[in-house]
Amino acid sequence: MLTRILNIAAEAGEIIRNGFRKDIDIEYKTNESNLVTDIDKKAESKIIDFVKTEFPTHNIISEESGTLNNSSEYTWIIDPLDGTTNFAHGLPIFSVSIGVQKNGITQWGVVYDIMRNVFYSAELGSGSFEDDKKLQVSNNDNLAHSVLATGFPYNVKDNPLQAVKHFSDFLVKTRTIRRLGSAALDLCYIASGVFDGMWESKLGVWDICAGQLILEEAGGLATDYIGKKIDYDNVQILASNGKIHSKMMEILQ
Ligand code: 2AM
Ligand code: CA
Repeated sequence: MLTRILNIAAEAGEIIRNGFRKDIDIEYKTNESNLVTDIDKKAESKIIDFVKTEFPTHNIISEESGTLNNSSEYTWIIDPLDGTTNFAHGLPIFSVSIGVQKNGITQWGVVYDIMRNVFYSAELGSGSFEDDKKLQVSNNDNLAHSVLATGFPYNVKDNPLQAVKHFSDFLVKTRTIRRLGSAALDLCYIASGVFDGMWESKLGVWDICAGQLILEEAGGLATDYIGKKIDYDNVQILASNGKIHSKMMEILQ
């Protein structure tokens, strides 16, 4: 199963790579900051056609096409292009994210770091990998030595001070903060020990489903801001190597 998910992620990634820095059609979804391109849609069609052909009884939740409910115990959770704004502006940081759940529990996750041509993958209970290398979160328990990642919520313009407050609170207590623009990659970079933690709200389930499994299988932890299970209908995520989790939680409260 993991190999098949990796293969379709690679095919979608190739569509995206071939469209990078070429003429693209941009549409606005809810506002002028919320973009979708023809390439998002082409990559998504590729993945959805694959699922419908190979796993016709499975459910699908995908960012641009919504939900297909076949009352299956299996659900594919697809973000064909995580980091659309980066893609549309020519910044080479974006990914394909595909998770597959059984009865609501993520069993497999793949995040394809397209421009680095690196595959992050995990199967529940079997660890997570960057290509063939087994992943392990960082061992750092000192917030002052931590590098964190975050993203601003799509409705940040309604309440910019809330996002800025968390940002400045972490800025003075950590080594630094990065704001890359692909939540799926942020989670993989914690899994691989590059980042020590991240926080973000108002994400879609497709942004985090695969990355969360990859992080957890590398020994990391993902909860909401008060340490509870993430509500996938209203995502608020605090993810870390586990060792700085409670310190991050204190700051977010
Ligand atoms: P996207 O590129 O697939 O939209 C950046 O902080 C993160 O927020 C990215 O993972 C981005 O995913 C996501 N994001 C941007 N706009 C969003 C929206 N309207 N709803 C949910 N997630 C969004
Ligand atoms: Ca997307």
